Amino acid sequence: MNKLGLGVVGVGAIGVLHAENVAQRTPNAELVALSDVNIEAANNVATRWGVKHVYSDYREMLEDRSVEGLVISVPTFLKRDMIIEAARKGKHIFVEKPMALSLEEADDIINATRGLKLQVGYQRRFDNAFVRLEKSIAQGDIGRMLLVRSWTRDPPGNPQGWSTDPKLSGGIWLDTCSHDFDAIRFLTKASVTRVYAVGANLVYEQLRPHGDFDNVLATLELDNGALAQVDSCGYTVYGYDAGIEILGTKGAAIARMGVNSAAEILKKGQSNQDLPQTFQERFGQAYRDEIADFVSCVLEDREPRVTGKDGKEAIRIGLAASQSAKERAPVYL
Ligand SMILES: NC(=O)c1ccc[n+]([C@@H]2O[C@H](COP(=O)([O-])OP(=O)(O)OC[C@H]3O[C@@H](n4cnc5c(N)ncnc54)[C@H](O)[C@@H]3O)[C@@H](O)[C@H]2O)c1
Repeated sequence: MNKLGLGVVGVGAIGVLHAENVAQRTPNAELVALSDVNIEAANNVATRWGVKHVYSDYREMLEDRSVEGLVISVPTFLKRDMIIEAARKGKHIFVEKPMALSLEEADDIINATRGLKLQVGYQRRFDNAFVRLEKSIAQGDIGRMLLVRSWTRDPPGNPQGWSTDPKLSGGIWLDTCSHDFDAIRFLTKASVTRVYAVGANLVYEQLRPHGDFDNVLATLELDNGALAQVDSCGYTVYGYDAGIEILGTKGAAIARMGVNSAAEILKKGQSNQDLPQTFQERFGQAYRDEIADFVSCVLEDREPRVTGKDGKEAIRIGLAASQSAKERAPVYL
């Protein structure tokens, strides 16, 4: 079998998972190299999966001819330059979301990767429940769309370093809510025309000096007439909770953690359901399938399911939400 040689850049929280998926669960790919400025972290992952080449400087990895594609999971402020350099060396790119910090950076990335495959890590598009919803909506099961609600709620943590500064991460609107903005575009096939957003800092004091929020709400108007609402909370004691509901004239399409009674109290470790505690648990299947599909796209010369344009549109909505929350006024797109 023709195997695609992949290198992973950045083996932090999500990069470790991508490395494992490439090494263990993507039959038509081989994990040939790893790069991380934290060389110890890279060496640990390399030992686990028997990876031959480890680089502290990703530029050296770009010279490695066995690396045909990269999985980029570094802090967002580093992605643009890294992708442009990698594209110059002819490497295909899978980049974690958000793919950039601004629309200009997104354009630079899209332009640099023309003729190569570029896929953005919005894994909800590969989650079995979301894929099922897309099919059901496309065949008209819910009729005309009326209301949409999408949410991403992270368990309590202790944000540190780059992730506390929106200039480096994109802040909650790009780093977290862009998942929701992309899921809404994916399932409704509509564009966002207006955003009104509010944010609060209620928990993590370290975000305050940088002006980031840990709890947010955004109201979106879509060009198919439907109204959408996005919320995110960075301190969700009962676990990791991400889902979407789309109400239409004939029915509703819902992907959530699994709710089997009308009224529920969810507390830490106490629930009548088996709730995921981390994003790795909730979206394990989707993370596996998105990498497998990226590899197939390169080998079969297919367009990825999450394109650079998709990556850019999620950023566009996120920036509008950020501006709206700052100015306390609606923003038109
Ligand atoms: N799709 C998802 O659900 C999901 C989940 C988590 C994170 N992410 C995204 O993945 C990206 C990384 O997030 P994370 O939580 O894994 O961050 P992290 O801080 O845990 O890991 C980042 C890694 O990159 C390394 N790094 C930094 N500079 C580097 C460089 N110049 N060259 C090579 N390696 C370098 C760091 O040493 C670290 O190991 C972010 O864009 C984040 O938004 C996506």
